[in-house]
Amino acid sequence: MPAISASAPGKVILFGEHAVVYGQPAIAVPVHAVAAKASISPDITAPKGRIRIQATDIGIDSDLDQLPKDHPLSAAVWATLQALAIHEPPAFRLRINSTIPFGGGLGSGAAVTVAIIRALSAFLGHPLPNDRVSALTFNIEKLHHGTPSGIDNTVISYEKPVFFVKDKPIEMLRPAAQFSLLIADTGMSTPTKITVTDVGKGWQKEPQRYEKLFTEIGAIAQQARSAIEGGNPDQLGPLMNANHELLQQLDVSSAELDALVAAAKAAGAGGAKLSGGGRGGHIIALVTQNKLAAVKAALLAAGGKGLIVTTVKRTT
Ligand code: PMV
Repeated sequence: MPAISASAPGKVILFGEHAVVYGQPAIAVPVHAVAAKASISPDITAPKGRIRIQATDIGIDSDLDQLPKDHPLSAAVWATLQALAIHEPPAFRLRINSTIPFGGGLGSGAAVTVAIIRALSAFLGHPLPNDRVSALTFNIEKLHHGTPSGIDNTVISYEKPVFFVKDKPIEMLRPAAQFSLLIADTGMSTPTKITVTDVGKGWQKEPQRYEKLFTEIGAIAQQARSAIEGGNPDQLGPLMNANHELLQQLDVSSAELDALVAAAKAAGAGGAKLSGGGRGGHIIALVTQNKLAAVKAALLAAGGKGLIVTTVKRTT
């Protein structure tokens, strides 16, 4: 069995976070500038079935059976073995590393899981197709995030822009013109589970107000889809601004996120919004090439960290 490796990109949510949990559409795109990588090599010196997991970035170097079964890394290995009905795997070493910032809403957990499932299923001679990889990753996301909508595992497994509606067949987006986004991190993070729970509490208290906000966010995601597929990405800016205001009303923004959004807009971004679970994590700003340097400088001056530029390519 030859050594094998697989990788998976990061992701950002362009429109529709939180409302997507309540059945509204959302749009997410892969971020290829960062990735998680899983490499597997046979361990011919070890007894059959011995599996070593090495993720030195996070200080893990351990046999599989010494990690809790629900640890995200071991869960991905067990899920793959189970999906392939392999009870006696050969001995191997699994090395994991990632350039996706941890806990920043760029999908690092889902990307590591996807990379492991891809690499391991290929190593065992049965590479799993994207839909199986995505479904297995979703189950593992549930272990750690409570009630994820499924958008992360979908966009990261398929590595394509998606128009995502929970529990509906996946629709790929086909951008008719390319556009670029600048991603900037606040350097702070609140677990998505917490903001999702808080939005849930707000919705229970004031169902009508929240339903209205979710519907408005869903309508923005629909308009954004038309802009992307119609070749008018410049229309995305005002939609991003409007989506950010609705997220503020859902109480998932923060002073740091608002400061980055304001700085990007003032420096000439077409629009900007928080992206992901919120109350920390990152913002995305729509930038044209001629404004890129100015927006970057403004974001750095406003405390933005780990700037990443990602281009969503034309596919029609
Ligand atoms: O924090 P992230 O980037 O994993 O995004 C969470 C997106 C939510 O809509 C808030 C939750 C979900 O599961 O879709």
